[in-house]
Amino acid sequence: MQERALSLKSGGKTISCVPTMGFLHEGHLSLIRAARPAADVLIVTIFVNPTQFGSSEDLSSYPRDLERDLALCEKEGVDIVFAPATEDIYPEGYSTYVEESDLSSGLCGAARPGHFRGVTTVVAKLFNIVQPDSAFFGSKDYQQSRVIMKMVRDLNIPIKIEVCPIIREEDGLAMSSRNKNLDPDQRQEALSLRRALLKAKELIKSGEAIAPIIRKAMEEVIGSQPQARIDYIEFRDGETLKPVDRAGEGTLIALAVFIGQTRLIDNLIFRSKNNLDPGAR
Ligand code: PAJ
Repeated sequence: MQERALSLKSGGKTISCVPTMGFLHEGHLSLIRAARPAADVLIVTIFVNPTQFGSSEDLSSYPRDLERDLALCEKEGVDIVFAPATEDIYPEGYSTYVEESDLSSGLCGAARPGHFRGVTTVVAKLFNIVQPDSAFFGSKDYQQSRVIMKMVRDLNIPIKIEVCPIIREEDGLAMSSRNKNLDPDQRQEALSLRRALLKAKELIKSGEAIAPIIRKAMEEVIGSQPQARIDYIEFRDGETLKPVDRAGEGTLIALAVFIGQTRLIDNLIFRSKNNLDPGAR
């Protein structure tokens, strides 16, 4: 793959890239559609990265369907799908990791120790292999997108990072490969993440700014669901990811909730001017 990418580049071609773990849905496809016109050659990577899963996490149950993913990529005009085997990326004796140590520490980083180290390591490797000029990420994983932007800046990686809005199901559930693991009751309960975010938005709009008060109202929305267990609900500055006590313009409200065994995340950046997510549909 790297030889092919280098030869494309030396032939004057530009490359855009969408890194994924596969089981593609409309969220991924939105990134592919944004990346398609950005360069001559569009490369999608599909790799369920073991180093970003904790030992008690869902690596083995993570949904996979390479045939379907390939058909979707073909339909979207993707030029190359890079789907390496685990041992190609982490051969025996592998021992080098990339770690961002500020933005990675809270939120999902606190809840999933080592997670972002796995993400930054694999994304740095994929960037080296695929040699993209630009790479596209979703704001559903808001913290991840910020961590990757920081890694690229800190390590002088010459790649433009583009962050795209959250794509949702009709009923508001943020699309995720993990939604597949929800049974019908859990699927209904999963709507409480979005409902809690909308509750927060409504409270802020009506003049409430005190984060613990807003959090309590969100906890009530989610707490009424029998199979829901809150991992975190946090209020952060949308730029620096530093915790804030008061919510207002530009505040990131991020949450992670277990519905049964399945851990789901969602977020919004509060904007008084009517858009829920940065550029949401
Ligand atoms: P994965 O969860 O497959 O997501 C791949 C990309 O799709 C990420 O940038 C993610 O933010 C984006 N995405 C997922 N659901 C989305 C939605 N509903 N709307 C918009 N974008 C969405 O994130 C990963 O894989 C991995 O951590 C990876 C970056 C590939 C490194 O292993």
